[in-house]
Amino acid sequence: MSILVTGGAGYIGSHTVVELLNRDENIVIVDNFVNSKPEVLEKIKKITGKDFKFYEVDILDEKKLNNVFEENDIESVIHFAGLKAVGESVEKPIEYYYNNVTGTLVLLKLMRKYNCKKIVFSSSATVYGDPGTPKYIEEFGRGKTTNPYGSTKSIIEQILEDLYASDNSWNIAILRYFNPIGAHKSGLIGEEPQGIPNNLMPFIMKVANKELDHLNVFGNDYEGTKDGTGARDYLHVVDLAIGHIKALEKLNREKSGVFIYNLGTGTAYTVLEIIETFKRVNNVDVPYKIAPRRSGDLAIYYADPTKAKKELGWVCERGIEEMCRDSWNFIKSDK
Ligand code: NAD
Ligand code: WQD
Repeated sequence: MSILVTGGAGYIGSHTVVELLNRDENIVIVDNFVNSKPEVLEKIKKITGKDFKFYEVDILDEKKLNNVFEENDIESVIHFAGLKAVGESVEKPIEYYYNNVTGTLVLLKLMRKYNCKKIVFSSSATVYGDPGTPKYIEEFGRGKTTNPYGSTKSIIEQILEDLYASDNSWNIAILRYFNPIGAHKSGLIGEEPQGIPNNLMPFIMKVANKELDHLNVFGNDYEGTKDGTGARDYLHVVDLAIGHIKALEKLNREKSGVFIYNLGTGTAYTVLEIIETFKRVNNVDVPYKIAPRRSGDLAIYYADPTKAKKELGWVCERGIEEMCRDSWNFIKSDK
């Protein structure tokens, strides 16, 4: 029996595959490399010394994805495959809804066909919208999303709940990630965005590496944060990967249900705190300028991770210094 990992060549997927292989699980990866590279697969093998099956398949291609189910005894699915750039989703809503929502529907149809009803889904804190308070609790439910990317996550959560309502033998974990950063200790896998990055940590790394001359800090007049810059709940990608193992273990203990968890540390750091920590632990310069606020940004939000701790036995073990160190180690290492 195998675990199918869609999007397993991507940033979070590759780290999760490493943790699964370290636990001797049988893995099948499906990825179309729209936002990753084939070399990642070799790096995963190098880190773990283990092998796995791989299919270069777009999850929208029902025939080819059917073949993956036909050739393997898939017991559960961890579903990472999706497009994730917020700004791009505003420019290309059709592509985002098609890839993320339709792609998930194709996957779910095949799961039903092969009677494989256990799925862990990559959702996002963005589904909360703006609940008006910084500490997000699962029971708030979904709010009004602010961009097509966020809407795809919200819609997929709804689809999964509707699916369970129609057939309560489904066993579903919805994981709402906060802000994953960092990389594997080996320096072999990490986040490698193409072109100008959108997210803070990839941007800091390009500036530290002198590929870009400075970072724009989007606003320093936010209320409710330590220094007026935006504050987020950053978590180490390896902790996040382990969260998926714990979620799968939970599903293996349960007969069925829909289980929703925040995956975050419960602490928010400001942009300036991240910059200062990055500079200090890596002994590099990160020039920055204060710039206007970025449209759609909230001042501060962070997870209430109590439910994941209680029900999954999951807590983040890696702190902000380790996150900054490992991110930089990935960029500097001789891959
Ligand atoms: P990523 O882009 O590195 O990984 C996604 C992978 O899916 C890539 O390898 C890509 O090639 C693949 N993919 C995309 N569409 C596909 C398709 N149609 N068929 C096959 N493969 C496809 O992103 P990530 O940061 O690893 O994110 C993984 C998941 O977690 C995504 O669903 C993302 O929306 C979600 N998420 C990410 C964050 C974050 O900050 N990184 C936060 C919350 C949620
Ligand atoms: C973090 C902080 C910025 C870049 C996004 C998605 C969210 C989730 C994670 C997928 C904010 C500030 C950033 C820069 C800056 N992804 N910043 N200068 O916006 O919290 O979340 O990624 O689900 O859905 O919206 O992350 O890394 O873009 O920003 O000052 O060049 O850094 O204003 O305060 P965000 P981010």
